Amino acid sequence: MKMIVYFVVGVAIVIQFIRPDFKNPAVDEKVALNTDPHVMSTLKTSCYDCHSSETQYPWYHNVAPMSWIMSDNIARGRKAFDFSNWANIDAKVKLERLKRAKQMVNNEMMPKHEYLLMHKNAVLNNEAKQTLEQFFDSQIKELGGRPTIIKGV
Ligand code: HEC
Repeated sequence: MKMIVYFVVGVAIVIQFIRPDFKNPAVDEKVALNTDPHVMSTLKTSCYDCHSSETQYPWYHNVAPMSWIMSDNIARGRKAFDFSNWANIDAKVKLERLKRAKQMVNNEMMPKHEYLLMHKNAVLNNEAKQTLEQFFDSQIKELGGRPTIIKGV
């Protein structure tokens, strides 16, 4: 029994040495999204930790294995939809992602559930959802797409 405890504690300590690199890339204001302040504040509160170069790190970001999960989410999130690289996203890709974003916000698939457990303020109420959906629609129209109509889920 004692051996098992030593082992678990030992592993918990050793894994702390495997540290992801959490440095945020520099933000170029010329390509970063800049829109209505209300939309910006909603996105910053609920999406930016994984979908921008402006990630804010909680105290546990350096504690493995949480750090690994976070680093993975941030890397994949930025790759999928990066508000800090907004002007550079290929129009066709952007249109797809915007449609998906609207759906995901509507279905409560984004922000990710595990994230919301630790970030209660990022939960989207109906008003915030509407703000984001209207913003996504306006961007879809700007790109020449047709806003999708989401039927009640
Ligand atoms: C905890 C991190 C996290 C937060 C917060 C988050 N996302 Fe994501 N998002 C991801 C990850 C990781 C992916 C990559 C695909 C996956 O794992 O689901 C993703 C993928 C996406 C995609 C692309 C999906 C596709 O299938 O093409 C969209 C759009 C998106 N997120 C929108 C949002 C919006 C809008 C918000 C805020 C309301 C948000 N996300 C908040 C982590 C996050």
